[in-house]
Amino acid sequence: MDFIGVSWAKKESFTMPDMDDVQDGKNFYLGVPAQTNLFFLKGGNSLDWGMKNRLARIFNPATGRSVMLAVDHGYFQGPTTGLERIDVSVVPLIAHADALMITRGALRSCVPAEISKPVVLRCTGGQSILKELSNELVAVDIEDVVRINASAMAVQVYIGGEHEHESIRNLVKIVDAGNRHGIPTLAVTGVGKEMVRDAKYLGLATRICAEMGAHFVKTYYCDKGFEKLTAACPVPVLIAGGKKLPELDALMMAYQATDQGAAGVDMGRNVFQCEAPSAMIQAVRAVVHDRARPEKAYDFYLSLKNDAAKAISTRS
Ligand code: 5RP
Repeated sequence: MDFIGVSWAKKESFTMPDMDDVQDGKNFYLGVPAQTNLFFLKGGNSLDWGMKNRLARIFNPATGRSVMLAVDHGYFQGPTTGLERIDVSVVPLIAHADALMITRGALRSCVPAEISKPVVLRCTGGQSILKELSNELVAVDIEDVVRINASAMAVQVYIGGEHEHESIRNLVKIVDAGNRHGIPTLAVTGVGKEMVRDAKYLGLATRICAEMGAHFVKTYYCDKGFEKLTAACPVPVLIAGGKKLPELDALMMAYQATDQGAAGVDMGRNVFQCEAPSAMIQAVRAVVHDRARPEKAYDFYLSLKNDAAKAISTRS
């Protein structure tokens, strides 16, 4: 009788390569207890392996922090200054970021697939600067998130906004879809023009996002009470850079935020609108990962900027 086209007699003569030299295991390390380490990120201990592994690509396990580069602004404000040509101005910066926050359109059209950095995919949208900003929908199917090999999904949540409820519903849908596939969700606390960016409001927004299942949250830094916001948020908090500041001020903000419990930054304009974006993202890294004082990081920025200028002038 045939077995998938091979006769039994012939099949019996097969030997598995490992079966002819089976040896009993010898070293069971009986005195060494099995590892029961806690996961390095706040709030992540009960997550599944895939979810943890993706988060450990975004956050550096050695420092517990991340420098994410946010370049998704075009999803509602079109060709933003500094992002007119993502292929030219952003791609060279990716090497210095821990993760890239971007839309699927910009990713597929402008970023080479050879990059090894994790992608945090912007997954809500549906409005423009001409209309009510909080009116968003889930703008990417989870299948496409998997196809793109994203390490996390980003959702805008507008607490106190006209479409607060719908934006929380978007978060819930994305968290549920992500949980099915082991893909974490970043909740981005969108702030309407009329909202005060104080610790009370931002603390409300970040806590709601975490309670609804976000695995990490992005918000704004505020001068007073930021440490209470991070303490009361059970998952890692990243800060957005906000509008362009003088470089030293932006570095100071990153320093204070991480000093007061933030797990890093998800910075856009304060990097790509800089005169020397590559120097700036490296200076931000020095603050976030190496705990460099802002003044030192600023000197570092200036020296990298000068080196780059010299390199250009010798070439021309
Ligand atoms: C848009 C975003 C942006 O990615 C974000 O605000 C970060 O960029 P910036 O540092 O320029 O504020 O989430 O809503």
